[in-house]
Amino acid sequence: MTLAYRGRGTALAVEHKREKDLVSEADVAVERFLVEQIRQRYPQHAIFGEESGSHDGTSTRWLIDPIDGTTSFVRGQPHYSVSIAVEQAGKTTLAAVYAPALGELYLAERGRGATLNGDPIHVSSRHSLSDSVLATGFACIRRNSAYTNVPFLTRLLPQILDVRRYGSAAVDLGYVASGRLEGFWELDLKPYDVAAGFLVVEEAGGRCSDFAGGRQRRYRQVLATNGHIHDQVVAVFADVRRELAAQGLHEP
Ligand code: IPD
Ligand code: CA
Ligand code: CA
Repeated sequence: MTLAYRGRGTALAVEHKREKDLVSEADVAVERFLVEQIRQRYPQHAIFGEESGSHDGTSTRWLIDPIDGTTSFVRGQPHYSVSIAVEQAGKTTLAAVYAPALGELYLAERGRGATLNGDPIHVSSRHSLSDSVLATGFACIRRNSAYTNVPFLTRLLPQILDVRRYGSAAVDLGYVASGRLEGFWELDLKPYDVAAGFLVVEEAGGRCSDFAGGRQRRYRQVLATNGHIHDQVVAVFADVRRELAAQGLHEP
């Protein structure tokens, strides 16, 4: 469905939710389709979609990002995805991240592993920051947050092999799970951006936390890694968090 809209190029209707936060007619159409399909099959389930918000239901809840990476999508770049997570009693139990332009479908079920196009995947075994490639994003900038990702990037970049900014947090997490990245971090994300990707990473042997290594803030401060480098990144970020706190900046 998304590929059909992608072919429209400049004919695609695109609006600004905020100055740097786009939504296209494809985002709305894909979410409407998914909500209809879920309602037909599971009318009692709750749904939270990025574009249509909450739909009441039972303790089973679907979290939908109909297009994660809308900016990539509207610009004809391949790093965008449909991200769907199913929560039961507050824990993600099923995950699907579909990147149609990349031809990649990540699936995960709690306790039963993660796959890419049907093949089992596992995080990389690299242990040193100097041998690690990490991805990030800048939602904080477009939300005009005073507490931004830039100090974390400038402190971490000299210590790692390289950084990538692809444009879809869900695909970034799929890349961590499949061993193509050692980690991904970002500030100011929402549950629908990363709930599915978190389960894919964890079922592939990785670790997901907030910047302090805990779970309390892990949507507002996303850190997902292969596990081997996690504590090293937390230590680098701890210095930055202390310096920002000393400047009177309160972390999200
Ligand atoms: C965005 C993408 C992007 C990330 C932004 C997200 P959206 O999702 O995941 O990679 O950096 O923070 O908001 O807005 O295109 O669904
Ligand atoms: Ca998103
Ligand atoms: Ca989106």
